Amino acid sequence: MSGDRGVFIAFEGGDGAGKSTQVRLLADRLRGSGHDPVLTRQPGGTVLGRRLRDLVLHGDPMSPRAEALIFAADKAQHVDEVVRPALTAGRVVISDRYTDSSVAYQGAGRELGADEVHRLQMWAVDGLVPDLTVIVDITAEEGRRRRGEVHDRLESEADGFHEAVRSHFHALAATAPDRYLVVNGTGDPDGVADDVWARVRLLLDGAAS
Ligand code: TYD
Repeated sequence: MSGDRGVFIAFEGGDGAGKSTQVRLLADRLRGSGHDPVLTRQPGGTVLGRRLRDLVLHGDPMSPRAEALIFAADKAQHVDEVVRPALTAGRVVISDRYTDSSVAYQGAGRELGADEVHRLQMWAVDGLVPDLTVIVDITAEEGRRRRGEVHDRLESEADGFHEAVRSHFHALAATAPDRYLVVNGTGDPDGVADDVWARVRLLLDGAAS
């Protein structure tokens, strides 16, 4: 548990995996069962975060370490300003991407080292770990096909980069199956949402007892 009264759920996955659709479908189910979830995202869940998002996704070329630090700064602000206060207030918080994105994209994709990036991320978020991370899985090839035209600096990386990111998400899920759920990003969205909902209900039942 995140150590607060609320429940923290993160969605992760490759570009084009359909995370945002799953976030929306989970939020619908939560509302249908009487919850009022806080939906947010990284990068860009705060005013500062939106400026950082612009810099890191659409700005000038930058070094991999600068990129990792900007993503970390976005997370620090996001957790301090949005996520922790909502958890303290007992809300269900759903974040579209969280620290594992940085571990996979900067640690494995940019080859900065997953352990080092993980430590940087944990410092930035003051140790806040989600109760559940849902990984929406997609191959690099299918992700590229779905994205169509390239939108940002990360999306424009080659398939090899996105395959390294994907493998690392799998590796993370394998280390802690109780905190992860891997779902098929090419499955029927409503069927996938049912699987996510089944797992989240268990989590909510546990939080209530
Ligand atoms: P996002 O807005 O979630 O884009 P999409 O909807 O395409 O998934 O994320 C923007 C990009 O930023 C995405 O390519 C993943 C990347 N990213 C990192 O490299 N590190 C991070 O820590 C985060 C949060 C995102």
